[in-house]
Amino acid sequence: MVEMRGFYRLSLSERRRLLLELGSLSEADLLALAGDGGPSAEEADKMVENGVGVLRVPLGLCLHLGLDGRERVVPMAVEEASVIAAASHAAKLLATGGGIISRADPPRMVGQIQLLDVPDLDGASATILARQASLLARANAVDPVLCELGGGAVALSCRRLEALPEGDPLGPMLIVELEVDVRDAMGANAVNSMCEALAPVLAKLSGGRALLKIVTNLADRRRVWVEGRVAVAALAPGVAANIEAASIFAERDPYRAATHNKGIMNGIDAVVLACGQDWRAVEAGAHAFAARSGRYGPLARWRVRDGWLVGQMELPMAVGVVGGIAKVHPGVRAALKLADVQGAEDLARLVAAVGLAQNLAALRALSDEGIQRGHMRLHARNLAVEVGAVGQEVDTVAAAMADSGSVRRDEAARLLAELRRELTRKS
Ligand code: MEV
Repeated sequence: MVEMRGFYRLSLSERRRLLLELGSLSEADLLALAGDGGPSAEEADKMVENGVGVLRVPLGLCLHLGLDGRERVVPMAVEEASVIAAASHAAKLLATGGGIISRADPPRMVGQIQLLDVPDLDGASATILARQASLLARANAVDPVLCELGGGAVALSCRRLEALPEGDPLGPMLIVELEVDVRDAMGANAVNSMCEALAPVLAKLSGGRALLKIVTNLADRRRVWVEGRVAVAALAPGVAANIEAASIFAERDPYRAATHNKGIMNGIDAVVLACGQDWRAVEAGAHAFAARSGRYGPLARWRVRDGWLVGQMELPMAVGVVGGIAKVHPGVRAALKLADVQGAEDLARLVAAVGLAQNLAALRALSDEGIQRGHMRLHARNLAVEVGAVGQEVDTVAAAMADSGSVRRDEAARLLAELRRELTRKS
């Protein structure tokens, strides 16, 4: 989308006008994105308990992101300075390798039913599996709409969990897992309802009692995989090898892997939040997946190969575009429209692509000039606003602080007062 070049140099109102002119959004969508589209404090009070108000988060656009041959505009909701600029910069670097490519699993989520006090676990498993077809039919009766759309419960399996070596007062337990094709939904509601409907029957068949009936957030049957490459020559000398070394640091050390993944989640969470998703579910799935080998590791890895720096990432991605607030929150609706999201799978790929770009951006900055310079520039702007700078004053005060290297609130206040004195003297 060539029209978006130089977007960052436009003022807020010019950017919004451009989105209107490009036909990406309507006036109503723009209003919604400005935060005026709700929910109001009164509506929020109906959404949660003990409601007292609404908390707003800045929303910006990641640009230049090539994904599977299409350039995408991606809304990101995040309070941390530098995240969106960094993602857009990395997206440009990834364009040197033709953009990101992706694949995704079918949208399958799993629910777990915990059976306790089962007298014969193997016998119970055999009985349950022998009735798989009728149990699936019973589960599907809970959500005929999902079945009409081509989804529904597709498989059932049993797992035996032995007692832990220490501190576990229970004997072995039986876990029945129900796999459901949730189509364009995130799916937790459908899966939970099906599990609750099956639980009494499973308790009877097993001779035990059913306790938990709930979706697992380790959605590893709904993975998304992304790969991107950057021409080594597009980076400053030595940076590609440094990024590889930074990746290997995370591969060897869980302390570094946690921060490496935090950088990835900076991008993922921001898109997920802008698009009205359950970001806690995505977070839980990502970190559980990162520890699947028994040792916590990085979600994305980078290697230098034949003149290219190649990054790959795989993770579970439980996101949906039906249900939840996706269709009802005007700001979320506008965000999904802006990103031209074609369905849950498309959103999953997009989210992961931004995560990979964000990781590249962080590793590039860390293995080159460090991240503080960029952070300080943006922090300086925030401080300028905090002390009351408006319009052009923000840039002038921030630039003066960044140049002097003293990015502090008192310095911002001093510079603003000086600038205003100067302007009064000239007028
Ligand atoms: C800061 O929000 C994220 C980073 O720490 C990520 C990383 O270290 O890879 C910069």
